[in-house]
Amino acid sequence: MTHTPYATNSPMICASVLSADMAKLGAEINEVLDGGADFLHLDVMDGHYVPNISFGPAFTAACKRSTTAYLDAHLMVSDPVKYALPMIKAGAHGITFHIETVENPVYVAKLIRSLGAQHVGITLDPETPAELIYPALDEVDLVLVMSVKPGFSGQKFKPEVLPKCEAIKKRLRPNQRLQIDGGIAPDSIGLARSAGVDWFVVASAIFDTKDRPAAIRALRQKLG
Ligand code: DX5
Ligand code: ZN
Repeated sequence: MTHTPYATNSPMICASVLSADMAKLGAEINEVLDGGADFLHLDVMDGHYVPNISFGPAFTAACKRSTTAYLDAHLMVSDPVKYALPMIKAGAHGITFHIETVENPVYVAKLIRSLGAQHVGITLDPETPAELIYPALDEVDLVLVMSVKPGFSGQKFKPEVLPKCEAIKKRLRPNQRLQIDGGIAPDSIGLARSAGVDWFVVASAIFDTKDRPAAIRALRQKLG
């Protein structure tokens, strides 16, 4: 049975497999989950909305075969409506789309929910103002604030998004979550937590270390 992260409002560490060694995907996934990560974050990139191509439904299905953990899909694609259903069918539990890619975010959030997503998230690039997502807030379970330009792992955290996190958090209901993605490491995770973040996406600060469980413990320690 898949553990649903919404069951608790304690902080969650979401391991982004973008920085995993894809040649040993199953082992990598199980190492970080056994090592303390709460669930997996899957970065889908189409080479159009972002200047990188990562993976899609087939890879998601491979993750699904490797674990029963919750799969949180972040769609960095120009047409999220086209890819939401294939991702859900492949095993993604939650789907997050970019506000910058849709004309009618309320419609898109409702549609993705109707397709069976366990959570619907909306996300915004570092330079996108928070106000843009406010009309859709009632329709989503999660807001993801990007703290790097989307497309690549291993970038430096942008602290200028912290006031945006605070502003969004004030508008969220108790059952909605605030997530952050990009440059989260032991020196930035505490700042994000203080700004109200609940879910922390981490790729390089986990996968690019020799001792992944120790890296996850170091992150969690900063959460108090
Ligand atoms: C970036 C992706 C992130 C990325 C984070 O576009 O959305 O999820 O994997 O990588 P780190 O944690 O290395 O910044
Ligand atoms: Zn991501």
